Amino acid sequence: SLPKAVKIRLDETDTSVAKLREHDGSGDPGTRVRVFGRVHRQRKQKDVLFVTLRDGYGYLQCVFAGILAKTYDAITLTRETSMEVIGEMYALPPGAHAPNQRELHVDYYEIKPGWKAPGGEDAITNKVQAGGDPQILLDNRHLLLRGDIASSVMFVRDAVEFAFHQTYRELRLRKVSPPALVQTQVEGGATLFKFDYYGEEAFLTQSSQLYLETVLPSMGDVYCIEKSFRAEKSLTRRHLSEYTHIEAELDFITFSDLLDHLELVMCRVIELTLADPVIAAYVKELNPEFKVPERPFKRMKYSDAIDWLKEHNIPNEDGHPHTFGDDIAEAAERRMTDIINRPIFLTHFPVEIKAFYMQKDKDDPRVTESVDCLMPGVGEIVGGSMRMDDWGELMKAYEREGIDSKPYYWYTDQRKYGSSPHGGYGLGLERFLAWMCKQHTVRDTCLYPRYMGRCIP
Ligand code: 4AD
Repeated sequence: SLPKAVKIRLDETDTSVAKLREHDGSGDPGTRVRVFGRVHRQRKQKDVLFVTLRDGYGYLQCVFAGILAKTYDAITLTRETSMEVIGEMYALPPGAHAPNQRELHVDYYEIKPGWKAPGGEDAITNKVQAGGDPQILLDNRHLLLRGDIASSVMFVRDAVEFAFHQTYRELRLRKVSPPALVQTQVEGGATLFKFDYYGEEAFLTQSSQLYLETVLPSMGDVYCIEKSFRAEKSLTRRHLSEYTHIEAELDFITFSDLLDHLELVMCRVIELTLADPVIAAYVKELNPEFKVPERPFKRMKYSDAIDWLKEHNIPNEDGHPHTFGDDIAEAAERRMTDIINRPIFLTHFPVEIKAFYMQKDKDDPRVTESVDCLMPGVGEIVGGSMRMDDWGELMKAYEREGIDSKPYYWYTDQRKYGSSPHGGYGLGLERFLAWMCKQHTVRDTCLYPRYMGRCIP
């Protein structure tokens, strides 16, 4: 009669949970454990079958020897098949390699009806072939997510999102949850998703900023992590139709306070994320050179960036040298960021190319107190600014942009009932991850990307 097996998850390396038996046979027996997982890898060596099981928490090498390796299910075993395995935990023999340097010597296993994964034509390896057609890979993203790279990006994403919550908690920002269904725009009409809301025109939110501003008087500094939606009509590697927007709004601050806060938040989030050795190992695997950026970040005024682009012969979208007032296009911005090769706060954009709500610079009213944070490899990952806090000026801004001020009455009221110097920003989580995990596109840093032409799976 064998001792009862304890059910463990595959990351439980703690010897009090899964005591390892030495291979030389001397000493204590190992713990008898019971695990559930899916076949991640397998290989046969003589009469022994080595199966690496995966359960979302870790990996475990399971050794099927003797009669067990000769059973029908073992001989026909396919990747992704689910199984229950019971056996004794062993330390690896010297010189051998397996996850966490341990293995399970199986004495019982079970594959319940319906747990088998197909082989042959339908095998998962055929659906998610490396170097395959990107559209087919995207159609099969639900299967691709089981792979090493896609899943490690998702583990990092989970840790980063948690680190943002933790960082904001440390800085005493309060979390709120603004609505996704709205009747106002924030970042221009061109990218609004419109829909019929009980007979009225409504939009999917582009940004929660305006709503965050309304709670400053009651809640102090606030943040939210919500979805934003943009009907982007171009296919680029950093634009999604639906993305996770990390936004914060700070009361009674200066523009310089805003930049200091942004740097602090980004560095602290990275520090907290990398403090978990499992996550740090994933980041190292994905982006071996990655480290916490040095503070302060490089600060560069928009007008200096225009000069820099001219000096480096990087043309604007029309192929001409850049001039003051040009919107710096994605390609030019990325080339500049890649050459400078460190995080940049690009500041003081002209009024005409920025959103209606941005505060003008007191010393140069042609420009706004605005910032884009640019990262090597990706470009802009944050957009932020100080907000216009004067009622009359805001009314003029609506007019200048051709925005009907009526639906914005609740936003305008903030300038009527106790205004304040305040500012905030939005950070695209997918872009932050593309930078941190060195992914070519934001399509690989979200679970199921949405962009023009794709709304499945
Ligand atoms: O610069 P944006 O448009 O700024 C705003 O929406 C402000 N209202 C935010 C605020 O101040 N609270 O967007 C902010 C960030 C960008 O820097 C980018 O990282 C991300 O949101 N972003 C996108 N990410 C993926 N796909 C898209 N289509 C995105 N558009 C913006």
